[in-house]
Amino acid sequence: MRVIDLRSDTVTLPTEEMLDAMRHAELGDDVFGEDPTVNKLEALAAKMMGKEEALLTTSGTQANLVAILSQTKRGDEVVLEAEAHSYLYEVGALSALAGVVPRLVNGDRGIMKAKDVEKALRPANIHFAPTSLICIENTHNRGGGTIWHPSDIKTISDLAKSHGLRVHMDGARVFNAAVGLDLDVRKFTEHVDTLMFCLSKGLSAPIGSIVVGDKEFISRARKYRKMLGGGMRQAGIIAAAGIIAIEKMVDRLKDDHVNAKLLAKGLARIEGVAINPELVQTNIVIYDVDRLGIDGGTWVRELNKRGVKAGAQEGGRVRMVTHRGIEREDIEYSLTIASEVAKDIKKKR
Ligand SMILES: Cc1ncc(COP(=O)(O)O)c(C=O)c1O
Repeated sequence: MRVIDLRSDTVTLPTEEMLDAMRHAELGDDVFGEDPTVNKLEALAAKMMGKEEALLTTSGTQANLVAILSQTKRGDEVVLEAEAHSYLYEVGALSALAGVVPRLVNGDRGIMKAKDVEKALRPANIHFAPTSLICIENTHNRGGGTIWHPSDIKTISDLAKSHGLRVHMDGARVFNAAVGLDLDVRKFTEHVDTLMFCLSKGLSAPIGSIVVGDKEFISRARKYRKMLGGGMRQAGIIAAAGIIAIEKMVDRLKDDHVNAKLLAKGLARIEGVAINPELVQTNIVIYDVDRLGIDGGTWVRELNKRGVKAGAQEGGRVRMVTHRGIEREDIEYSLTIASEVAKDIKKKR
């Protein structure tokens, strides 16, 4: 059976070029700072992002965690959007391991208003946990791949500065934001103190994320990465694929965005499926199947039986993500399957 996997852009496999580069990578012990391939990737990433230094981590989750650990003290409060990945999907690490209290702010599909963030900041008062960090997520996963525009990032950054706070960006898909608005990625990074981005999503590397920021931050982050068991020795094997990811795989994210729009428009034509294709900005498509009288889990199981994989969220919410390996024909085929499933469900009712 033909299988089309739209569950996530994390399912992308490394390219042949990546596998070759991994096979031939020059290696050393990265805990001693002696892996030339890791050093090359970190230098390249820092330059690309316009920051002093970078650090390779095992995953996006570890990258966000070392960023939070390095910029807060236990008992601090960290402002996050209410549906932030770091809050919802990282096993509560920010509280369990960094010891910080999440202070949640509702955003509009993940994008917070500065006035709402300002209200969430704690004034000096003996009763309050002090705020030390504001986190934003770009693109915002649960928001449906929404882009934080550089001007909105600057507004948050100005607010943070005026309160003596730092800003961290979970930029797991920051290149999708850059490609989505056709801007240099530095436009998104210049107003944040630190950010992380993933090599292993649409960029197709098999493993790894990168944290960037100033020298002092990276040296703290390096220490915390070691504490978390993320000192990786001959990590050049991973870095070799990462170099190709950032040098060669960014531009092709455009194709994923075109496919996501096509998917959204097609879904909007299916009776019982609710989505506004105008709101799809990058490679994540979130829609609702409530009006078919089923939950997302039932819809996803029915699609799955016919070879199309998607992710069920709460209620009738369903997520599909486009990525390398998904072509226009795959989208068209998935839409055919989705309309068949919708018809079958209506018949049974
Ligand atoms: C926005 C966002 N941040 C962080 C992560 C965590 O990345 P990882 O799965 O590599 O831990 C993800 C993963 O999907 C994500 O979507």
